[in-house]
Amino acid sequence: MTNADKLKELAQTSPYAGCTANAPMAFVACYRKECRMPEYAPIDLSASVENLLLEADELGLGAVWLGIAPLRDRMDKVREVISIPEELEAFAIIPCGYPVQIKNQQNHYEKERVHFVE
Ligand SMILES: Cc1cc2nc3c(=O)[nH]c(=O)nc-3n(C[C@H](O)[C@H](O)[C@H](O)COP(=O)(O)O)c2cc1C
Repeated sequence: MTNADKLKELAQTSPYAGCTANAPMAFVACYRKECRMPEYAPIDLSASVENLLLEADELGLGAVWLGIAPLRDRMDKVREVISIPEELEAFAIIPCGYPVQIKNQQNHYEKERVHFVE
């Protein structure tokens, strides 16, 4: 999706999607409602979004995961903006572009949250 007007509309589909308005493009990751194992769809899509983020980074691009599913109101808004066919569901928006700044990586590691079992 590269249409500037649609990107601005997508930016309104969640309170945390504002960065989409200024991005040159965005992916909207969707899953098929009637896939082989629908229970696993969010897990499969999470892995694919993560892979997309890693590849964007590898290419020197900036991208961010904007959560849409499982919140029905966000999913319906995204469907409306980009006319997603009935058989698909919107999962996440991933705006992508050349980063205006590189922030230092944050370290969220908390040793006490890792449990080792011998
Ligand atoms: C499931 C999921 C949903 C997210 N939704 C949003 C979002 O709506 N808006 C946003 O700006 N970032 C969103 N993010 C990105 C995170 O806020 C954050 O940028 C990312 O996890 C990296 O955090 P870090 O830089 O602190 O390590 C989401 C991340 C995940 C995993």
